[in-house]
Amino acid sequence: MKAAMTPSDTLFILFGAGGDLSWRLVVPALFNLFLDGHLPQRFKLLGVDRADAGDAALAARYLKGVTENSRRGAPPADAWQSFSSNIHAIKLDATEAEGFKQLAKALDAHEAEWGGKAERVFYLATPPSLFEPIALGLGAAGLAQDREHVRLVVEKPLGNDLQSFREINAALCRVFEERQLFRIDHFLGKETVQNILAMRFANPIFEPIWNRRYVDHVVITAAETLGVEQRGGYYEHAGALRDMVQNHLFQLLCLVAMEPPVAYDADDIRDKKVDVLHALRPIPHDEVETYAARGQYAEGWIQGEQRPAYRAEPHVDAHSNTETYAALKLYVDNWRWQGVPFYLRTGKRLAASVSEISIRFRDVPHRAFPVAAGLNAQPTRLVIQLNPEQGIVLKFMAKEPGSPLRLSPVDMRFSYKEAFQADTPAAYETLLWDVMVGDATLFMRADQVEAAWQLLMPVLDVWAANPAVNFPNYAAGSWGPEAADLLVARDGHSWLTPTLSKDSAHER
Ligand code: BG6
Repeated sequence: MKAAMTPSDTLFILFGAGGDLSWRLVVPALFNLFLDGHLPQRFKLLGVDRADAGDAALAARYLKGVTENSRRGAPPADAWQSFSSNIHAIKLDATEAEGFKQLAKALDAHEAEWGGKAERVFYLATPPSLFEPIALGLGAAGLAQDREHVRLVVEKPLGNDLQSFREINAALCRVFEERQLFRIDHFLGKETVQNILAMRFANPIFEPIWNRRYVDHVVITAAETLGVEQRGGYYEHAGALRDMVQNHLFQLLCLVAMEPPVAYDADDIRDKKVDVLHALRPIPHDEVETYAARGQYAEGWIQGEQRPAYRAEPHVDAHSNTETYAALKLYVDNWRWQGVPFYLRTGKRLAASVSEISIRFRDVPHRAFPVAAGLNAQPTRLVIQLNPEQGIVLKFMAKEPGSPLRLSPVDMRFSYKEAFQADTPAAYETLLWDVMVGDATLFMRADQVEAAWQLLMPVLDVWAANPAVNFPNYAAGSWGPEAADLLVARDGHSWLTPTLSKDSAHER
């Protein structure tokens, strides 16, 4: 896609320029786009912050950021020199109108120098409490009016619940049109996540079996060995459900369950995705326990290292009731998926860092082989591996060589690394490029975010009203709490140990 288009001249205005997100993800991604020749000829990065950094100091900070965080490591000196000559620091207090007027003048001056209109991307790498004042400040200074050339990028968390999302969104929409708003869910920028659509809709063989007649259930896993690191302050108010499920896991669910789009087009794809969210069976308040399970990690061992309990992490309340693990059972109430459970799970400090989607097919209708031959029988599964392995594995039964007749599970694999020798771009590279060319396909539309909050509200309400009495309830280094095992066991299922390496996964 990138080969066919290059963004037009771009002024990239980064609010929160001195913050962690800019340093760790945004600038390294921009620099990699530069190295790959994907930035426009004329590009400026204007780093906006309350403190006056100065151009040289800001560039020096970003050099460190790129060196430590870019997939390519330390940058070549000449390339960095050329990129960083276009970094400028701008001091602005988001609560003062004057700063926005100055910003408008600075942007006009850059355009005058270039002799034409540029794309203006306002990227809010700030705490969410600043989204509204910045949007209003931009609006008041006339900086949002050009619907064609001006875009606003915001990061999660977009609200803490349905109500607060609606408030934030209403504030943004007072100033910007929906087509100008790019809400980032970085999972959607991952190559393997984009490949879900390619796999489903660029091949004829999957679609006929992609429904309730052939699929028994679907498991979506996003497991991390990391704890909350230094983010306890944020995480205490978020928890696993808001941090991972409301956005990333729901987006994966949409990609797996959506109907085929007519065209690879932002609105068509997002329409099909939101249809899935609207079809999700609401979770009644009095049945939350049947559909959701929560956990919080206790101390434990991961890969030979002892890890503290969540409650002993920095900035975390010693009696915290925040969940660091969440599992959900969902049903998509439509013609294609009626009766097929979708199990979602995510957690911190689990046994391995692994994200995957496992499609478990129905058993054969009749077992023709002698019982002894099939003792090792495993269901057919298609595993879409997102991380750390990137690829697709089909698990099916084959005949072992020799006699007597015996069947064994085997794997058929597609590996990204082996099939395409190219380096995989980081999610932010894909997403930032899309923003610059104005392609919103991989961004969340307001109606998706709203539908996701709506579905989760009963769970959030019930969990908030009923603090867990058994926290912490899983050891760091385990696969999560017993409550999650029960959630699937009630349907006669069990979670699978994810496909960690080339060895087959096994039921546990
Ligand atoms: C972020 C969450 O959105 O996604 C983090 O806030 C989580 O808590 C991260 O660790 C996981 O993303 P990735 O790309 O590392 O799988």
